[in-house]
Amino acid sequence: ERGEYRHYMQKEIFEQPRAVADTLESRIGPHGVLPNIFGVGGDELLAKVRGVHIIACGTSYHAGLVAKYWIEEYARLPVAVEVASEYRYREAVVPADTLFVAISQSGETADTLAAMRESRRRGYLGTLAICNVPESSVVREADLKLMTRAGPEIGVASTKAFTTQLAALALLTLRLAHERGLDETRYLALCEQLQSLPRMIEQALQLEPEIQALAEHFIPRHHALFLGRGVQFPVALEGSLKLKEISYIHAEAYPAGELKHGPLALVDEDMPVVAVAPNGPLLDKLKSNLQEVRARGGELIVFADKAAPMDGNPSRGSVLRVDAGGEFIAPAVFTVPLQLLSYHVAVLRGTDVDQPRNLAKSVTVE
Ligand code: M6R
Repeated sequence: ERGEYRHYMQKEIFEQPRAVADTLESRIGPHGVLPNIFGVGGDELLAKVRGVHIIACGTSYHAGLVAKYWIEEYARLPVAVEVASEYRYREAVVPADTLFVAISQSGETADTLAAMRESRRRGYLGTLAICNVPESSVVREADLKLMTRAGPEIGVASTKAFTTQLAALALLTLRLAHERGLDETRYLALCEQLQSLPRMIEQALQLEPEIQALAEHFIPRHHALFLGRGVQFPVALEGSLKLKEISYIHAEAYPAGELKHGPLALVDEDMPVVAVAPNGPLLDKLKSNLQEVRARGGELIVFADKAAPMDGNPSRGSVLRVDAGGEFIAPAVFTVPLQLLSYHVAVLRGTDVDQPRNLAKSVTVE
């Protein structure tokens, strides 16, 4: 039931603190990730992993891209991420002791399932499913599993499935990082940060009225550009997919450093540019990228970390402050305002938010 909410999508956006808390429940504690959360023999298998291949589609693919940044940074293992429809038809090279990870909300996406079946032939150490439906095909056929506990997701646009996938992938990252000798103090600090994620998402949801006001700017637009850097680039990709999917505004995402290699040519006063600006070593670089947009009259909408030193409002556009709660969980927290933005743009444009045209919730055909 939708209850007080206007659409399932809005309800599901607001369910995220609960869904993420449920996904972390009894899997992580004050001393770290708990044993045996990936199923029988999981910890033994994960101890042998020397590399990771992640396969998924759409939003689940974006979760995989975030995990690449995490696993490479904290566990120092090489990670390749690919959309399932490409992976299944090419001869991927599989180095020894590589783990195959399939990410899927439904567990019935035809391409993801086919890719997983194909992986059997390619000599992986084992397969892990990160999935929201326990009785699904992807889960049944995987060696190891870590269920997201988002509950049923009705809106075609994936929201709570994505943030719970990030929570599950964060657990995988921490398990691998610990195994690979990450400094104990740092490990425990990251565990603590992850446990604060439901609270930080709750805070980000409070931005709804401001975001709703911002959404008005998008009503007459035909295009939008999303920018991020580092681990926030996949968040920008996810933000642009959400906007396309439910508001039918053409949106593209770029790692901000690529701007001057082409897309800057598109920027004029009719092009809103949405940027995710967390605090961190790349902030100054991002700021100079945003300066390039400003100089061309583009309207800037910046979601900036509370801790990030940013000047006040740009001449055209706005800066919204988000408390990211730390570098590790920041991509999950910054996702929330972007979901709210797409949602309110779509509502204002009067589209069918929960059932966007031409799309199905679960893509069970190729
Ligand atoms: O069920 P899955 O996670 O395998 O679905 C993958 C994509 O079809 C899905 O994420 C799709 O991109 C969503 N509609 C995005 O909001």
